[in-house]
Amino acid sequence: MKVGVFDSGAGGLTVAKSLIEESLFKEIIYYGDTARVPYGPKDSNTIIRYALEAIEFFNNFNVDVLITACNTVSAYALPSMRSKANYPIYGVIEPGILALNNKLLSQDSKILIIGTRATIHSSRYQNELYALGYKSVTALQTGMLVPIVEEGITKGPVLDAMLDYYFKDIDTPDAIILGCTHFPIIKDAIGEYFNNTPHLIHSGDAVVSYLKEQGYKTLNSKPNVTIYASDNVGGLRDIAQQWL
Ligand code: DGL
Repeated sequence: MKVGVFDSGAGGLTVAKSLIEESLFKEIIYYGDTARVPYGPKDSNTIIRYALEAIEFFNNFNVDVLITACNTVSAYALPSMRSKANYPIYGVIEPGILALNNKLLSQDSKILIIGTRATIHSSRYQNELYALGYKSVTALQTGMLVPIVEEGITKGPVLDAMLDYYFKDIDTPDAIILGCTHFPIIKDAIGEYFNNTPHLIHSGDAVVSYLKEQGYKTLNSKPNVTIYASDNVGGLRDIAQQWL
């Protein structure tokens, strides 16, 4: 089976990496809209328009299924995307919520969601958690972590200062939803900031568990991966060499 993986840029490689490690597909077509990243500060109409253009891109590849690795796109554009495609499209929010719920935390547990401005404003994660009965939900826009990761800063004083800026008034949570494709790259620093006590929910792992529940099976060989981008595909392929 051939899977498409769509993201606003490089971040979705964290989801592709989980798919590669689990060998759920024979072929992965990755498309990053590097010409227009970041999507996080944009408004919903723009995010939906870009997502529909990505569907046009994937319609050339006969994919069997499409994973929208981008949390921001998952928050706004899945219904519009699904109306334009004749293959299943999965986002990362529902899998992330299920992964959190599978931790069997009490409903009084402190849950922290971090993501882009658009993802947090959509309230998608928050509403799903409230619907499941979680009462102590904090949602925080941490969009400046995106360019920091893109700069290759995954530890050290700049990242530590930025984490402190965002988290200094936050009580140590029981679980953190890493609601942005880039955050798995700095998950160690995020965990350490809170003394490694919170469960960290990683979209890539969550999607793999979700797909397995849907009946997708591990194959006995690693997938072929082809990377496409709307700008500077060489740069994206270089990042893929480091991250995958
Ligand atoms: N891929 C985006 C997300 O997961 C982060 C980068 C962006 O703002 O486009 O929300």
